[in-house]
Amino acid sequence: MKHAKTIAELQASLVPLRGGATVGLVPTMGAFHEGHLSLFRAAREECDAVVASLFVNPAQFDKGTDLAAYPRDEARDTRLAAAAGVDILFAPTAEELYPPGFQTWVEVEELGWTLEGRFRPGHFRGVATICLKLFNIVQPDRAYFGQKDAQQAAIVRRLVRDLNIPVEIRVLPTVRDADGLALSSRNVRLSAEQRRQAQALPLALATRDPNKARELLEGLEVDYLEVADFEPRVLAGAIRLGDIRLIDNVLLEDAVPGFNLAPPTEKGVT
Ligand code: PAJ
Repeated sequence: MKHAKTIAELQASLVPLRGGATVGLVPTMGAFHEGHLSLFRAAREECDAVVASLFVNPAQFDKGTDLAAYPRDEARDTRLAAAAGVDILFAPTAEELYPPGFQTWVEVEELGWTLEGRFRPGHFRGVATICLKLFNIVQPDRAYFGQKDAQQAAIVRRLVRDLNIPVEIRVLPTVRDADGLALSSRNVRLSAEQRRQAQALPLALATRDPNKARELLEGLEVDYLEVADFEPRVLAGAIRLGDIRLIDNVLLEDAVPGFNLAPPTEKGVT
């Protein structure tokens, strides 16, 4: 696996891989777990070359404390990415992606203002901007996202359609621990008691009924628990345990063919 710190290094490493081959991109913020690895493996299976980006994007954190507390272990991530078949790990600095004078942002308006957007103003503007930058830098045929962040996936799909970005968005199922909790880089910060309380979220969502789910979450700090039409429709929820925020969702209908959790199209396949 090659390790690229700069855009120039990344693009130089891609030149020999590209010639007619399909390139898959998996954008991440590191602290890899099985959720990330499932995306790497899917990209490995479906593409000739796999690029993973590892960048804790300051623009999508509303609070400096959350950004500072974000778990980082680049040496471990490098080993895991290589073992999962990633060809190039792109791990730039913040200055590389946001040089002095940076002032251009992309915002997916209504979709980005609901649910998570209400509790994290500016979050999805940061996500949409970094994803667009990564699509332009890597120019992948396919990019891989997790259904765990259903609103993020919907926003990226909307961005790609609205701005005619030539990339196929692939969304893969949420990977969970044996106790039902969706894997998240934030889970390592949960105490044993908080982890026990956190299990109420997947249990509540599994009812697929907002009223029953709200009952099961009584006593917990719930930011929202709502049905959202993200194509496919989901029941989505967010809870807070101390200063840790957890989000999760379940599908309420089958995936939309060609977009979500579906086999890749033939586009770009050689
Ligand atoms: P990050 O939280 O590192 O997640 C990277 C990708 O892994 C996202 O597409 C996310 O949905 C997916 N993922 C996380 N947990 C998962 C799980 N339990 N099962 C399946 N997939 C899971 O999401 C981001 O980074 C950033 O917002 C990013 C898109 C990289 C932009 O900065």
